Amino acid sequence: MKLENRIFNADCLDALTKIPDNSINVIITSPPYAQQRKKSYDSIPESEYVEWFLPITKELKRVLTDDGSFVLNIKEPASNGERSTFVLELIIEMRKQGWFWVEEYVWNKKNSFPGKWSNRFRDAWERCLHFTKNKKFKMNQDEVMVPMGKWAETRFNSLSDEDKIRHNSASKSGFGRKVENWIDRDMAYPTNVLEFATVCYNKGHSAAFPEELPEWFIKLFSDKDDLVLDPFLGSGTTAVVAKRLERNYVGIEKQKKYYKLSKAYLKMEDVENKKIKQEMAAAIKDARKTGNWDGLAAECKRISSKDNQSLDTFNK
Ligand SMILES: C[S@@+](CC[C@H](N)C(=O)[O-])C[C@H]1O[C@@H](n2cnc3c(N)ncnc32)[C@H](O)[C@@H]1O
Repeated sequence: MKLENRIFNADCLDALTKIPDNSINVIITSPPYAQQRKKSYDSIPESEYVEWFLPITKELKRVLTDDGSFVLNIKEPASNGERSTFVLELIIEMRKQGWFWVEEYVWNKKNSFPGKWSNRFRDAWERCLHFTKNKKFKMNQDEVMVPMGKWAETRFNSLSDEDKIRHNSASKSGFGRKVENWIDRDMAYPTNVLEFATVCYNKGHSAAFPEELPEWFIKLFSDKDDLVLDPFLGSGTTAVVAKRLERNYVGIEKQKKYYKLSKAYLKMEDVENKKIKQEMAAAIKDARKTGNWDGLAAECKRISSKDNQSLDTFNK
């Protein structure tokens, strides 16, 4: 069975069994939320979260290539006056499963909603945990360089003699820096704090990624034609961005309406003409209103057939 550029309407634990060992280059996902109290359709109780997630991470490890990366976007809620610890417990259990925990990136949500709480301030960041199978993995650092910015202007005007020699890390990690080396450079490597605004417009999914988030990690951890997986696809953002970046994608989504929504957004990627794109966006909006998800595929196919660039995603 051809795996590339498919999305499955299934529980990810079932669909993952169809994916061969060592076949996925990057996994980027944001799983359903944990909730303190009841089990609802789209959330897992905090107390069961680790136990629920570990069989999935076991499968993800099996399908990931030896030089692949798994980026897990997750944030523990606070309740009863304190932060939950299940994410910390999950990291420890995943390490026992054989995962290598390389880094914790912080997604700083630039546009977090204001509010007042008695014991903390507004939550403006989420974790993006980076796991691999090995110490060595694919990382295209030059793909995510950022402009050097204001820092350089002030810092380089006042170089001391110290700045001209290499400083080795006090922890003897082997890392060092020589400030002078960065003079005359326009671009620098980024930090591990990523600033992306959350999605404000109504995309039909309450927890959709901003496109910049999967884009940043896909560029960093994969090459053109590599295979990108999102096992909790939602509205399809990871797959859409992977497709745009000329990667192959696999997506898994349990809820039929989000599966259909993903398919429609993927189909929209094939369309170049702005007017036809708008027509398709209107059809998506309509399906969300009426709940006629089955009709949406045919409607998108009909609309996109007006565009010469259209590929036949829906026949797959
Ligand atoms: C936080 S949302 C992901 C949103 C996504 N990043 C986007 O950009 O739209 C999690 C998604 O996982 C789906 N989901 C929950 N449990 C699942 C399971 N066991 N297998 C597959 N999908 C599941 C939910 O329906 C939901 O759409």
